[in-house]
Amino acid sequence: MPRMARLILALILGLALLTWVASGVVQTTAREWFERDVNSRAKMVLVGARQSLAIAWYGEPNDLQKQLMAFARDERVMGAAVCDTTFKSRASTPGFPDDLNCWTVGARVRAADPSGDGEGRIQEWSTVATLPTGRVHVSVMPIGNQGQELGFAILLHDLSFIERREASARTFLFVTFGILAVMAFVVPMFVAKWARYDWSLELRRLLRTGGDKGREFQPILSDMRELVGRMANEREDAPGQWTAQNLKQSLNLHLHGERIVILANREPYIHRHAADGSIEVQHPASGLVTALEPVMHACSGVWVAHGSGDADRETVDRNDHISVPPGENAYQIRRVWLSEEEQQGYYYGFSNEGLWPLCHVAHARPVFRAEDWRQYLAVNQKFADAVCSEVDSKEPIILVQDYHFALAPAMIRKRLPAATVIMFWHIPWPNAETIGICPWRNELLEGLLGSSIVGFHTQLHCNNFMDSVYRYLETRIDREHNAVVMRGHRTLIRPYPIALEWPVHWVETAPSPEECRAKVWRDLKLKPDALLGVGVDRLDYTKGIEERFLAVELLLERHPEFRGRFSFAQLAAPSRTKIERYRQLSDTVEHLAERINQRFGQEGYRPIILFPSHHEPPEVFRFFRAADLCYVSSLHDGMNLVAKEFVAARTDLKGVLVLSEFTGAARELTEALIVNPYDLEGSSDALAAALTMPLEEQGDRMRSMRPLLAQFNVYRWAGKMLMDASRLRNQERMAGRLADRSSVVPV
Ligand code: G6P
Repeated sequence: MPRMARLILALILGLALLTWVASGVVQTTAREWFERDVNSRAKMVLVGARQSLAIAWYGEPNDLQKQLMAFARDERVMGAAVCDTTFKSRASTPGFPDDLNCWTVGARVRAADPSGDGEGRIQEWSTVATLPTGRVHVSVMPIGNQGQELGFAILLHDLSFIERREASARTFLFVTFGILAVMAFVVPMFVAKWARYDWSLELRRLLRTGGDKGREFQPILSDMRELVGRMANEREDAPGQWTAQNLKQSLNLHLHGERIVILANREPYIHRHAADGSIEVQHPASGLVTALEPVMHACSGVWVAHGSGDADRETVDRNDHISVPPGENAYQIRRVWLSEEEQQGYYYGFSNEGLWPLCHVAHARPVFRAEDWRQYLAVNQKFADAVCSEVDSKEPIILVQDYHFALAPAMIRKRLPAATVIMFWHIPWPNAETIGICPWRNELLEGLLGSSIVGFHTQLHCNNFMDSVYRYLETRIDREHNAVVMRGHRTLIRPYPIALEWPVHWVETAPSPEECRAKVWRDLKLKPDALLGVGVDRLDYTKGIEERFLAVELLLERHPEFRGRFSFAQLAAPSRTKIERYRQLSDTVEHLAERINQRFGQEGYRPIILFPSHHEPPEVFRFFRAADLCYVSSLHDGMNLVAKEFVAARTDLKGVLVLSEFTGAARELTEALIVNPYDLEGSSDALAAALTMPLEEQGDRMRSMRPLLAQFNVYRWAGKMLMDASRLRNQERMAGRLADRSSVVPV
């Protein structure tokens, strides 16, 4: 039952109980009052009539009768009688009840005689008797003359009027209760409806116009729009929470358990030579790997990737395979080897100096070299061939990942026309003008349209992609179904916001938040009352690390109370270091940290603690669990899983996430403090707000974000894509059968 209905029901029951108790109290009290009132009236009448009754006793035979008839004029008087000392009637009004004749009343008065001998004089007496006609008040008054006892008078008052009054009081009470109950039900409903109407009108106005608050509301507005859109498109294939197990089950059910092949440049386990000559395994800093590794772990299959570790060759079998995770062997990595030239052209050049800056609005100028393009083409073909050699059916499921492989889908489709190829683009897709900068934009788009499905994190990126196709290629755009048809081949364009496994296994195996905090405090030599912020990124110019440090500097400048107390630990994994722009960034970030430390540092205190090195997940999660805040300040980011990891790490519901509005994650984690990282004042305000936020509010925010991560986890992400692929495949099979049948119809 909804909360509102439960409340109203409780209110009505409470009112009913109150009315019932009140009607009991009112009835008893009113009855006592009325009876007391009748008693004193009867007494007054009889005392007043005593004298005249005594005179009438000796008068004419009907004088007593006349006196009694005078009493009976009062409508409440039911009857009156005069009796002598032997309890014989001397006179009575007509209809005086037999049950209360002189004898019965006289005997009762005697029995109640306080003298106790039963022979005493008749005393003044009253009682309430119940007759078949109703309740009656009986009042007795002795009649005497100069000390001589003559007899007594009986006066009967009808008490049925009390019952009538009681009944009206009860009716009044119940009618009042009824009205109150109806009001208790109707008024809150009306208020709620009215408030909702008013709220929805306002919401609609905001959605339409952006509202007066404009920029302030933008993150919420886009979030709302996307949520509404997503809800409208949602076809819940697996109700409840997705898990590794039910992802595997639905794979078996819908895709007949076929082996999945993933193509991604970055491998999930890199083997390197350690300083002591042994071989160690490294988990790379890559959101793509963070998300896909648990999926592969659940589904098994093959991950085709560049073998980039210096000990990778030593650890594969003769088919370049290695089973991972070490010791568990849940799936295989197929390593592809690249020459220096190939890496230079395909990875550093075209992918990371061309497409990466092109797709991110981070103001780094993209560089497109013809030689890089040639390598990109050749390496895409090399990987596509490797994928084709790994499949075990004519209709395999192939998941191609990211901007390194825009051409691979079409190359795979050429060799395996019945394959289901799902391409997921992990970074933003820019608008049509921007993509137009790339001299090979048409080839990129055509390559991607070899896929069955092209997925992005957001609907905006899907729209940008469709607009780009519309602008540069001869295709049919099916806006109703979000699909593109090129030379008879249909590609669905869909948003699938990427997510984390749930529960996150690094969190499950991590020490408690208190232990993590104690260890980090020891390692960083922080004072007991210190406050700690954390940032975890690859050293990449899209991550806004410089802006982050500048916001910390401004915080210390504007809030002297944090000087000597607040430190920001930045774990910065070196990345793509052969590229000049990345080397420059590394230098700038180090110099900036030094400058800020010189400006605000003191003996034993550094505002910025920079670790420009790779950190394995257990260390990263230790920092997440120890810190008071995490600042993700990306200038542009497809999703950013670091933000989600920080929230996942906080099982203690403490810590505040400060999150750039230019991340895909900001659309989902709306309880983070959302900032524009370019706005240094606003960002430093957010840092101050995070550092002074009461624990209760921190808990409320975490409590609201964590269930979202649990529900919209990476198994659901993969499940949705695979379900869509399976549906598409069934439709194509049906269409194929129809085509076959029509081809055998005799002409
Ligand atoms: C981004 C890309 C991934 C990439 C990761 C790390 O998240 O979308 O494809 O793996 O950065 O970059 P790297 O060049 O080290 O693989």
